[in-house]
Amino acid sequence: MRETGASSLPRWATLKDACAIRDLRQLSRRRLPRAVFDYIDGGAEDETALRDNEDAFLDWHLVHRIAVDVAERSHKVTLLGREQALPLVFSPTGLTGFYHPNGEILAARAAGRSGVPYTLSTMSVASIEEVARGAAETDLWFQLYGLRDRDWMHGLVARARDAGYRVLCVTLDLPVSGRRERDVHNRFTMPLRPSLANLLDLACHPGWSLGVMRSPPRFGNFENADTQGFTNIAQRIAGSFDASLHWGDVQRLREMWPGPMAIKGVMHPEDAERAVAIGAEAILVSNHGGRQLDHSPAPLTMLPEIAQAVGRRAELIVDGGVRRGTDILKAAALGATACSVGRPFLWGLTAGGQAGAEKAIAMLRHELDVAMTLLGVATLGAVGRDHVRPVARRTRV
Ligand code: FNR
Repeated sequence: MRETGASSLPRWATLKDACAIRDLRQLSRRRLPRAVFDYIDGGAEDETALRDNEDAFLDWHLVHRIAVDVAERSHKVTLLGREQALPLVFSPTGLTGFYHPNGEILAARAAGRSGVPYTLSTMSVASIEEVARGAAETDLWFQLYGLRDRDWMHGLVARARDAGYRVLCVTLDLPVSGRRERDVHNRFTMPLRPSLANLLDLACHPGWSLGVMRSPPRFGNFENADTQGFTNIAQRIAGSFDASLHWGDVQRLREMWPGPMAIKGVMHPEDAERAVAIGAEAILVSNHGGRQLDHSPAPLTMLPEIAQAVGRRAELIVDGGVRRGTDILKAAALGATACSVGRPFLWGLTAGGQAGAEKAIAMLRHELDVAMTLLGVATLGAVGRDHVRPVARRTRV
């Protein structure tokens, strides 16, 4: 988390005392076993991409205008043909129901109550159908990974379509899982390996451990796959990412999916153009939250080039490092229609269930509203390139 303004929540603080995303992170750290917190919080190798994702927002100043009537403000945007309350999307996060019992459904409900879409990961604990039933009011997107078993992969797309998901989000930056060294040190495996350190860790976090015992994790979208049993399925999944996936496969998915399609993991302007050429309506400028290729630039850094390449042919969503309402404004000024957030809602969810996830979004909404008022913009459409200036010289803290 950005070093500036570190959380100083007292030990006894609860959800109601949290006033910024960094406070939710602090509460999450206290509630979760270390291995689980680190799995959510960590990034690949030296975590330079992880840090840069957040720090990139420090590269831009916001320049306010004065004497603008901002007494009435709207945070609404239209994203992929649907109006929503805020320029935010819940990013797909695997195993969310392992971090918190019923995590996917509670997070999806939180998204719905906040008026923004929820993206269900291929690697969810709850299945496509369970989330559709459990959060019927929410604008649901389904995230797809490239899987070796093409029949299974295409079957997931058909299930998402039949269950009423509106948007297919295809993640293309995971031909293989990035090397996350915190997980190596913590021996974080699925299921958790019963080492002495892990057992002590679980014993020190009884609230979380009891929750997991009551609802053991599973991979809801892989049940009835040819291998049964959680460990077998976990092993099967670990070996199922397909490094040979190419644009031809994505084209096939485009033909299968009747609704809007988003491509996630785009960092190069030529890939953005390619995604548009095959018919994607949205692009998630993303490096997977710094969890895949280390030394990747931040999504915000690549946004202006990608916006220039794509023009108005696709909607751009900045995914990664968004922790403040001012971050959302900077992304809007540089050409994004919306931002998507992963860790912020996971920290909220693990700190306080659905209320915690809702609180994460409420904090961002409040910060965005204050920042819009101070910047002198009444709508997000009024935010433009002229509202930002590059920081001449940044001293890292
Ligand atoms: C992810 N991310 C991810 N992305 C995806 O396409 N499918 C997935 O299953 C997951 N799983 C996942 C788990 C966890 C614990 C995290 C933190 C992230 C990446 C996610 O969608 C998103 O790109 C990042 O989280 C964005 O960065 P921030 O908002 O966390 O900084």
